[in-house]
Amino acid sequence: MSSASRKREYFHSFLLHFRPKMVPERTLRLSLTWGLGGTAMVLVFLLFGTGLMLKFVYEPTPGGAYDSILYLQDSVPFGQLLRNIHRWSANGLVLVAFLHFLRIFYTGAFTAPRHVNWMIGLLLFAAVLFSSFTGYLLPWDQIAYWAITISTSMLDYLPFVGTGIKQWILGGPEPGPATLLTFYAIHTAILPVLLLFALPFHFWRIRKANGLVIPRRPDEDPAERGALVEAMPHLFIREVTMAVVAVAAVLLVSMFFNAPLAEQANPGLSPNPTKAPWYFMGLQEMLMHFHPVFALLVIPVLLLAGLAIIPFVHYEAETSGVWFCSHKGRITALIAALVAVVVTVAGVLLDEFVFKDKLTGSAGMINKGLLPFAVILAGCAAFYLLMKKGFKANNNEAIQALFTLLATAFVVLTLIGIWFRGTGMQLMWAG
Ligand code: HEM
Repeated sequence: MSSASRKREYFHSFLLHFRPKMVPERTLRLSLTWGLGGTAMVLVFLLFGTGLMLKFVYEPTPGGAYDSILYLQDSVPFGQLLRNIHRWSANGLVLVAFLHFLRIFYTGAFTAPRHVNWMIGLLLFAAVLFSSFTGYLLPWDQIAYWAITISTSMLDYLPFVGTGIKQWILGGPEPGPATLLTFYAIHTAILPVLLLFALPFHFWRIRKANGLVIPRRPDEDPAERGALVEAMPHLFIREVTMAVVAVAAVLLVSMFFNAPLAEQANPGLSPNPTKAPWYFMGLQEMLMHFHPVFALLVIPVLLLAGLAIIPFVHYEAETSGVWFCSHKGRITALIAALVAVVVTVAGVLLDEFVFKDKLTGSAGMINKGLLPFAVILAGCAAFYLLMKKGFKANNNEAIQALFTLLATAFVVLTLIGIWFRGTGMQLMWAG
């Protein structure tokens, strides 16, 4: 065998760890993946590429950071475009990874043998969020400085350990040189390395699970895999098309919209309102209605634990590959989403204009903590029972409805925080 063909052989057997030679034709349908995982991967590549280039100019000190961004934008050829691509890819990645997570959930692609990948996915999502968050501070402008200040100061509300954790993260009582250096190191070294290891593992696990879930109608046999086709060219062509579309979309947005840059950070002058990055606005909004222990600890920890155990629940039906479990599942999910929109908006309005109790202290712990938390728990239990008894849903459909209820409520809170909070974080009509 010639050395060239041996190299080709090695290359192919290496690739086969991640992708098979043949794939079920049905998994190539756009209506299964919507290209979301692949788009997320393309965005990660764009971020790595542009991030590496940004490192040549960026200076991680409070004195130099802002100036280095100005220099990049004004004096480096295509510097502004480079920054735009990095910024919009990062925002896109948070959104696309979230949509990919929803697609995994609603196609039942989280049960064994895909449960490990579900857990790796949760880790990936956390890494994506924290990459975005740590990157947010780096321009050291007013938006960055105060978004990080408000996000980390939420920790102050946690009794006993909160302030300690905040100071540990910031390297002091407020964002300063140590914070910038720590965030820079986490953003440009620790999280990228984590992603570099976790992503190949994610892809290898798809291979170990014998490929993606096979999309099917509720009445089709789960064991029926359909015809196989060669990954090259069938899958490859689709991947390249999707990558081209994703890159073109990011380029277009980056050509027309500049990444925001406000005045240089001024620790003595906070903008009004001071908002966290958009993906943490749901948490900031929760903090306006619940005692901090519940808004930042009890509720998020319970939700995360719920997500982690989803694959290990015993399900009555095998629904992997079926969008929304069944026909009934579509209806119950839709009902859940509508209920969540109405109840969340009503809850926010009621809390804002009727129950104006204070949030902290022991009275707050009861009025804004235990009481509303008990109401929410009872509401979720009642909703679950309504699905089971009223709609005769099986536990797949009922759990899906509960997930939809909570996920929609979180999205609604996020949107309220982004668009409907103005000066002094007061509710206002448009944002
Ligand atoms: C940086 C973030 C992520 C990237 C780049 C990524 C990439 C991918 C790709 C390319 C696929 C195959 C094609 C597709 O399904 O679209 C995939 C499948 C999968 N992903 Fe992700 N993913 C990410 C985050 C997540 C998250 C947040 C979860 C869930 C918690 C997740 C769970 C899964 C699972 C279970 C599969 C197998 C799906 C199946 O068998 O049908 N991933 N991922």
